[in-house]
Amino acid sequence: MLRHFVSVWDLSAVEARGLIGRAIQIKREERRGHRPALLSGRTLGLVFEKPSLRTRVSFEAAIARLGGNAIFLRGEDVGLGSRESVADFARVIGQYVDAMAVRTFSHATIEELAEAASIPVINALSDAAHPCQALADMMTIQELKGALGGQKLVFVGDGNNVARSLAIAAALLGVEFLLAAPPGYEFPAEFRTRFTARFPQTPLVVEPDPQQAVVGADVVYTDVWASMGQEQEAAHRRGIFRRYQVNEDLLARAKADVIFLHCLPAHREEEVTSGVLDGPHSQVILQAANRLHFQMALLVWLLGEESA
Ligand code: CP
Ligand code: NVA
Repeated sequence: MLRHFVSVWDLSAVEARGLIGRAIQIKREERRGHRPALLSGRTLGLVFEKPSLRTRVSFEAAIARLGGNAIFLRGEDVGLGSRESVADFARVIGQYVDAMAVRTFSHATIEELAEAASIPVINALSDAAHPCQALADMMTIQELKGALGGQKLVFVGDGNNVARSLAIAAALLGVEFLLAAPPGYEFPAEFRTRFTARFPQTPLVVEPDPQQAVVGADVVYTDVWASMGQEQEAAHRRGIFRRYQVNEDLLARAKADVIFLHCLPAHREEEVTSGVLDGPHSQVILQAANRLHFQMALLVWLLGEESA
C-alpha cells in the first residue's frame, strides 16, 4: 500500500512505536557490523527549496547504507509550481525514483505532491511540520530514558514546525508536552482544532512563563526564534523571545537529570547559550546522529518488502 510521511498526523501510535523500535534496532545491528542492503537498487529523490545539513546528508547516507542511491535536486532547479505544476512534477519524478523527500516553504506543496504522486512522499521540513525530526527525537528520548511514556517535554520558543510535530509525536507516545511561547507565537488555531479532535483526552498546554514551564521537565527543547523563510522578522523576534533563552539558570529549574535537545542549527547566545548547548545536559549530537537511523527505518518502512 502506498504510504506518505507528510506529517506525524499520518502515523498511528503503533506505527510510531514500530518505526522508533526499528530505528533503534538498525542502529544496534550496525554497531555489530550488520548492515543488510534492504533497499538495494532503490533510488531516493531529494528536492530541497531551503538549505540543510542534517536532513539532506542523513537521507543520502541512509539510502546509501541500505544499498540504494540518492539524487539531489535544488528547489530552484526544478521550480515546483513555477517551472511546471506540482502535480506534473510529481507524476514525472515518480517514473525515475522510488520515493522522494521534499523540503519546501509551503506545507501545501508537499500535500499536493503526495496527492499526485505514485511513490511515497516524505516531508523533509515545511513551514508547518518537521515529522522526521520529531520522530528521531522521540527515538533519542527513548534511548536516553529507557522507554517512552510519562516524561515531561517542554519546548521553549516559537510554536513552529518542529514544536508542532513534537506535540503530535508526544501525544501519540504518551509523553507530556508543554509549549512555553510568548503570546502570539503559540500554535495556530487550525493546529489546535485538529489536535483536540485527534487527542480529545490530551490537553495542549501553553505556559507563557518559561521559568514555570520547565519545572519538573525531563526534556527541555528549543529551536531558532525565526525559522527559514522568516529571516526578515529575526530582529523583531529577538526582542520578543529574549526571556525565552535556554540558559544555565533556566535549565537549573528542570529535573536534575534533564536532557537538553535542539534540532540544530542553533543560533548560539540567542535561543540557547553555549554553556547549555555544550554543557553536561546537552544531547544534541546524539540527537543529530539519530536522524540517520530514523531515516533508515522510515525508508525501509515506506519501501521495504513489508510495504509491497
Ligand atoms: N535539524 C535539521 O533538520 O537540520 P537541517 O536543516 O540542517 O537539515
Ligand atoms: N524551525 C527551523 C528548523 C530547522 C531545522 C526552521 O524551519 O528553519
